[in-house]
Amino acid sequence: MENIQIPHNLSISNCNMLALNLYGLPLEEEYNLLLNLGNTEPFGMLYAGAIIRQFFYRNKAKITADIHPSTSYPLNMGFYKSIGFNLGKKPGEGNISDNHLPIEYLNIKDLDQKAKDNKELIQETINSKAKDLSIVLSRGEELLNKYLQFSLREIMRNVIEHAIADKIWLAGQYWQTRDLVEIAILDEGMGIYESLSRNKKLNISNNEVALHYSLQPGISRMVPNKRNQYDAWANSGYGLFMTSSLCKNLGGDFVMSSGNKMIFVKDDKEIFYETNFTGTAIRLRLKPSQIQDSDLLTKISKEGRKIIQKKGSGVLNKPSKSSTSFMDD
Ligand SMILES: Nc1ncnc2c1ncn2[C@@H]1O[C@H](COP(=O)(O)OP(=O)(O)OP(=O)(O)O)[C@@H](O)[C@H]1O
Ligand SMILES: [Mg+2]
Repeated sequence: MENIQIPHNLSISNCNMLALNLYGLPLEEEYNLLLNLGNTEPFGMLYAGAIIRQFFYRNKAKITADIHPSTSYPLNMGFYKSIGFNLGKKPGEGNISDNHLPIEYLNIKDLDQKAKDNKELIQETINSKAKDLSIVLSRGEELLNKYLQFSLREIMRNVIEHAIADKIWLAGQYWQTRDLVEIAILDEGMGIYESLSRNKKLNISNNEVALHYSLQPGISRMVPNKRNQYDAWANSGYGLFMTSSLCKNLGGDFVMSSGNKMIFVKDDKEIFYETNFTGTAIRLRLKPSQIQDSDLLTKISKEGRKIIQKKGSGVLNKPSKSSTSFMDD
């Protein structure tokens, strides 16, 4: 039996190291995880949890764990049960409070059914869910609520529209003392590279190129199409541009991991890290104190239009209504 030490602090670099270490391990019949987590954050728990689950699927080994819960946070957030150990809350069962969203997953089949029952588009079902979640996280701050709702909707919508996954995993937290909000959204579907490569007009050669391009305005797996231009929910390649730009504009950062790469975006910097993850995991962070402008989405979408006008190729889409506005106004 081999022991595997899970990092005490689930920072993004420790999670990537864990992903690479687990990927390189030889097949054994039995593994034992050593877990002694500190006060870790939503994205770290969601991402490390998926990395550990993916290790289980690959190895089909017997897995045990020595768990020393030194803090109650991962217990309340549903972390241990999210990786199959019977300790603490279940995903979706943790107490939603006015400053955090415990780990939860949404079954896409259930969302489909709900949309049918309500005779609405699944995008509208997702928008209602995004609204419920953002109300909890934003603690009555109206503009924060809107920007979180927009971001949650766009990233969840991407899972439905592109990932071919069966679940959307979510978690989040608002630390008022740190002036920081974090949202984590993850799926274990096909990943950005495989999806974006379907657009044959783009020349996407690897995960790094795919991650970089996916954040650019007008870049989508869908090629521009005249019939789509009146469809408010048509894919126009703006969701990730808008959400990553929101984070940058509001003093935060944007992280996305898919395949063997993670991109970290802050200000005008893009940094890439090696990792190993099947699917797409996203972390949005922003500083509520920096929200002053109620028209930030319009401003960002105008910037996006300018960028595509400059590049001016037939590959780039014009923005659709949904991925550049709240849709509720
Ligand atoms: N969860 C995901 N799984 C797989 N691929 C994804 C995922 N999210 C985004 N992508 C890929 O990245 C591309 C860009 O995403 P983005 O949200 O910016 O635009 P879009 O969804 O195509 O259009 P819009 O958001 O304007 O409706 C998508 O077209 C898709 O190829
Ligand atoms: Mg999108």
